[in-house]
Amino acid sequence: MLDLVQRQAVPEPWAEGEKIPWNDPGFSQRMLAEHLSQAHDMASRRFAVIDRQVAWIHGALLGSTPARILDLGCGPGLYTSRLARLGHECIGIDFSPASIAYAREQARTEGLDCSYVQQDIRTAEYGTGYGLVMLLFGEFNVFRPAEAQAIVRKAYQALDEGGLLLLEVHTFATVRALGEQPRSWYSAPSGLFSERPHLVLTESFWDAQRAVATERYFVLDAATGDVARHAASVQAYTDEQYRSLLADTGLAAVIFYPSLIGSPDETQGEFMVTVGSRS
Ligand SMILES: C[S@@+](CC[C@H](N)C(=O)[O-])C[C@H]1O[C@@H](n2cnc3c(N)ncnc32)[C@H](O)[C@@H]1O
Repeated sequence: MLDLVQRQAVPEPWAEGEKIPWNDPGFSQRMLAEHLSQAHDMASRRFAVIDRQVAWIHGALLGSTPARILDLGCGPGLYTSRLARLGHECIGIDFSPASIAYAREQARTEGLDCSYVQQDIRTAEYGTGYGLVMLLFGEFNVFRPAEAQAIVRKAYQALDEGGLLLLEVHTFATVRALGEQPRSWYSAPSGLFSERPHLVLTESFWDAQRAVATERYFVLDAATGDVARHAASVQAYTDEQYRSLLADTGLAAVIFYPSLIGSPDETQGEFMVTVGSRS
């Protein structure tokens, strides 16, 4: 706990941790329950929201024509399984073991045209021949800028000519607000960060110069006093930066949408959508 008291006043973005431990087996199992929960839209959205978004991807983006789709950071396959039911061939990559196991089981029991790869999207091979590559729910912003750029480059290479890259990203204002949140804490008999009684202390920082929000989580085990530390940094981008990032990679016809249903969706105001095509 002394480490906690003597922590560096302001964290260096990404230096204290990449992101919350999605790929830790215990954490990923507990996180799976949050993905599937219909009480909130935290790890994944509620199914009714996803249904509307999938309808837009299928109808408006893909013109209701079967495509080969790659979902980066697919979680438990809530988008891929729906898209496969509409006739698309889907491949999902995610490094969460519990999410990938769930997604595979869904595909197997329903006989869906989905396959899943449990790998880190920074190092995974994406293959080629896709009509759509997507990275949803703001996860793009959690990567260091150089990694995010490399992911976009790999996604571009994976697309067929005319194929689309869909990024659902955080708005600049959302990331800043995240970094400007006041400190907070909660206790739980068991929860996402631990299955044992624990306290979670969080603090947030906004690095205005680098436009990065960093969140620290200290998880204190109530019985032993042990402290587990996690941190996640989130890069803010202006609309112009998103546009150049895609254009510099070679993507053409970059279009912005206010949400994953194409029109403003006040329940999803933290996000926006950019789509570019490989010409
Ligand atoms: C916010 S969740 C969204 C899941 C899914 N796209 C959805 O909307 O239902 C982010 C997902 O990205 C995955 N993820 C984060 N970083 C990753 C990485 N470096 N490689 C693979 N998956 C990653 C996590 O495991 C998690 O399933």
